Amino acid sequence: KPATLPLSVTVNGKRRDLTLDTRTTLLDTLREHLGLTGTKKGCDHGQCGACTVIVNGTRINSCLSLAAQHHGDEVTTIEGLGTPDNLHPMQAAFIKHDGYQCGYCTPGQICSAVSVLREIKAGVPSHVQADITAAPTATNIEMRERMSGNICRCGAYSNIAEAMAEVAEARA
Ligand code: FES
Ligand code: FES
Repeated sequence: KPATLPLSVTVNGKRRDLTLDTRTTLLDTLREHLGLTGTKKGCDHGQCGACTVIVNGTRINSCLSLAAQHHGDEVTTIEGLGTPDNLHPMQAAFIKHDGYQCGYCTPGQICSAVSVLREIKAGVPSHVQADITAAPTATNIEMRERMSGNICRCGAYSNIAEAMAEVAEARA
């Protein structure tokens, strides 16, 4: 019989108490145990970014993280960023700029995009540090590089960059 573990985690503002197999990833916890299927499983190996969620204010690949590591944490998924009637500005900008085609990568792209603008604003170092003082524009290397862990097989990259630039500009 597999070992289980009790766990409390706050997801999209709601505390959830679970007892899980210790090997359960955060991604499977969200999708299989909490019914939050907005977060997508692309590779399950940390290579595509489809599973990106925000934990305690920082984006992570939820497929690479065990739920057991997140006791007491605050997790935000695409379902917690906005609602159909009250979209997050980044969600609205993705729609306006056509930042997706099939949509499979989109929840991860949006969670990353929200975090990337926060990282740039806060001066969080990246391995590029091309132009961290410049405002994020659609051609800004720093912004694009920080999004490079989110793969889009439909190739919506330039529209994603435009959506992000618009949100950044509106906030400046
Ligand atoms: Fe997590 Fe691809 S599913 S990085
Ligand atoms: Fe299809 Fe990105 S919109 S993979």
